[in-house]
Amino acid sequence: MDPAGLIAQLTPTLETLVDRHLAKSKEWFPHELVPWERAGERTAATEWDESEAPMDPAVRSSLFVNLLTEDNLPYYFQTIDKMFGAGDAWGAWARRWTAEEGRHSIVIRDYLTVTRMIDPVALERARMAQVSNGIVPDPITPVDGLAYVALQELATRIAHRATGKLIDDPAGYAVMSRVGTDENFHHLLYRDLVTAALEIDPSMVVEAIERQVTEFEMPGTGIVDFDSHALAIAKAGIYDLKVHHEQILVPVVLRHWGIEELEGLTPEAEKARARLVKRIDRVGRAGRRMASRWAESEAAARDRAETAADAERPGRDEISAPVAEPSIDAELTSTSA
Ligand SMILES: [Fe+2]
Ligand SMILES: [Fe+2]
Repeated sequence: MDPAGLIAQLTPTLETLVDRHLAKSKEWFPHELVPWERAGERTAATEWDESEAPMDPAVRSSLFVNLLTEDNLPYYFQTIDKMFGAGDAWGAWARRWTAEEGRHSIVIRDYLTVTRMIDPVALERARMAQVSNGIVPDPITPVDGLAYVALQELATRIAHRATGKLIDDPAGYAVMSRVGTDENFHHLLYRDLVTAALEIDPSMVVEAIERQVTEFEMPGTGIVDFDSHALAIAKAGIYDLKVHHEQILVPVVLRHWGIEELEGLTPEAEKARARLVKRIDRVGRAGRRMASRWAESEAAARDRAETAADAERPGRDEISAPVAEPSIDAELTSTSA
């Protein structure tokens, strides 16, 4: 069987999962989440100054990267359309997914515009640069594409929700968690398609998962100054290797897909599985090492700041309200989305 044949065999499963998605996800309106009154007296001509919205620069970086990632939607659609085709249930799903994704940049941009958390001029220039480049991951087969989007939708959910918790604004938290809920629904659909694909052709799918875990990149690649923003986001613990390992690779790849328990693999797939398990372990060790190094340097910086007279601004721990994180599957079993 070739990858296209496997995708065709998954069509009935996709139809069932789309029905579940439509039954569980709820209609929502970006304008209802935006605190319009905060726009106040400022006009478009008011020059932006970061003192208007003091915050940890890492949180500002994360808002910037998360929104620009959503802005690249035309190219994600292009990739999905090319991989899965525009016909039957796959095309219908790609168009529905695109319509849902469109709300994400609308609500985040409107929120950032009225709260003035990001310089609107810099943001628009970055959007023009990002969308003019149109750089997005391009998986080599449709099965690789399924594995990639399963991982990426969950990564996006984690990044949006973690950012929302750190904004120190209930309206901002509501915006980011609403978007995160959508991403979670998308993840669940793709995750369960991969599960079904593993039952049909475990060897082909495990090789695709191995490639996608090895090459995985957050889709922000191509954003202006992406590396420095990504570093700030990682140091703040919003999204780093430790999070990637603990919240994606272990619960989804190892536990949910049960990669280590698969039977009847071809010799090539056996090798891919061994590389994959080794890779996941290495990511975990590197993530823990980096997180503890950054925690140490952050503690040292905080000590220095506390002794300085200008340590007025709240630190990250003080502004992050403890909010219980719902499990990935909670939204499938709960009645409110
Ligand atoms: Fe999105
Ligand atoms: Fe999504």
